[in-house]
Amino acid sequence: MQTALKKLANIGIDAICSTHGPVWTVPENITGVVALYDKLSRYDSDAGLVIAYGSMYGHTEELAEIIAGEAAGNGVKNIVMHNVSKSHKSDILRDVFKYKGLIIGSPTYNNKLYPAVDDLVSALQNRNLKNRFFGYFGSFTWADATARQLEAFAGAMEFELVAEPVIMKQAMLADVAEKALALGRIMAQKLTSGTEVVPNNTLTVNK
Ligand SMILES: Cc1cc2nc3c(=O)[nH]c(=O)nc-3n(C[C@H](O)[C@H](O)[C@H](O)COP(=O)(O)O)c2cc1C
Repeated sequence: MQTALKKLANIGIDAICSTHGPVWTVPENITGVVALYDKLSRYDSDAGLVIAYGSMYGHTEELAEIIAGEAAGNGVKNIVMHNVSKSHKSDILRDVFKYKGLIIGSPTYNNKLYPAVDDLVSALQNRNLKNRFFGYFGSFTWADATARQLEAFAGAMEFELVAEPVIMKQAMLADVAEKALALGRIMAQKLTSGTEVVPNNTLTVNK
């Protein structure tokens, strides 16, 4: 897309006839649509945070709320929480494309991610999302799969893993709550400091 936009830079555009979607003919709309294509294809984003999580019994959701509360308390103005079983995937994708911070949470489900989280992760991979501050969290009972799968996801994407993952064995303990607070706080520092994403940074993860 960036190459196409460079080629079009000096050409007047009368209409945009996209393969999927509306035909744009009004000049002000054309300028706006080209600017949007440019922004989205650079994976540019605004300072804000999406926390997308799945939860069957509420443990993972409890972590999501601690992380969100700490991020808000440390100055992140725009925080969108998506319970993946309730939000439509297209709404989640819209917000993930809009904001620079992304935190994903999942319970372990049959030795995999929770299905709707798995689906979201695949959708983000298919769209080759880049340039995000990233964190993840989850809950399990006997053998965790969240850490393994979201660690692989983080490694495959051009993301900066900002803090240690928060993986909880079923119910809340003080050390887990502390890690969740740390994730929210560090994400807030990244989003409010104006620093750039360092893709595939080598954060030491102690699990
Ligand atoms: C259908 C189902 C499958 C599960 N599979 C696993 C599993 O493979 N490994 C594991 O450690 N826990 C498994 N669990 C337990 C949940 O991961 C655990 O209860 C977790 O805390 C649930 O998080 P939540 O309260 O956010 O739903 C499973 C639970 C359910 C209901």
